[in-house]
Amino acid sequence: MAVERTFAIIKPDAVKRKVAGQILARIEESGLEIVAMKKMHLSQEGARGFYAVHKERPFFDDLVAFMTSGPVVALVLEGEGAIKQWRDLMGPTNSNEAPAGTLRGDFGSDLEQNATHGSDAPETARLEVSYFFNAGEIVGVTEALPPQ
Ligand code: RTP
Ligand code: MG
Repeated sequence: MAVERTFAIIKPDAVKRKVAGQILARIEESGLEIVAMKKMHLSQEGARGFYAVHKERPFFDDLVAFMTSGPVVALVLEGEGAIKQWRDLMGPTNSNEAPAGTLRGDFGSDLEQNATHGSDAPETARLEVSYFFNAGEIVGVTEALPPQ
């Protein structure tokens, strides 16, 4: 399997509950490498742009309100099959359906307030990483991966 980078967010609900540290520990235990990280408070414009793929969905305004309700931690993760590995670690979208042991199962509340975000494919990972990070902010551990 190829080494990949993926984009992750520890969402406002998890930051507010002070479980960001526990989520970061789970990432480190998983073997995924944190190659970039910053805490930020998303603007309306930033959140709307980031989730633009969902702009026609009925939950879009709620999602933007949630994502701008407090600070988040944005991350770039690197490792073998990082995109799927991170999605597996998060669990399914709805925290009520996410098994114990997954991040959304252990730290999320419901379908919206689900603790974490993860890119869903290589193209979205590339776009999302570059939406939040400059190449110089990423400390890659794999020389084969050029800066994004
Ligand atoms: P994400 O993009 O945040 O990693 O989540 P995902 O791929 O598992 O789910 P997606 O369908 O992309 O939905 C994006 C986020 O929108 C919120 N959501 N609310 N109220 C609703 O019906 C609803 N559905 C989704 C969640 O915060 C979800 O993670
Ligand atoms: Mg998604």
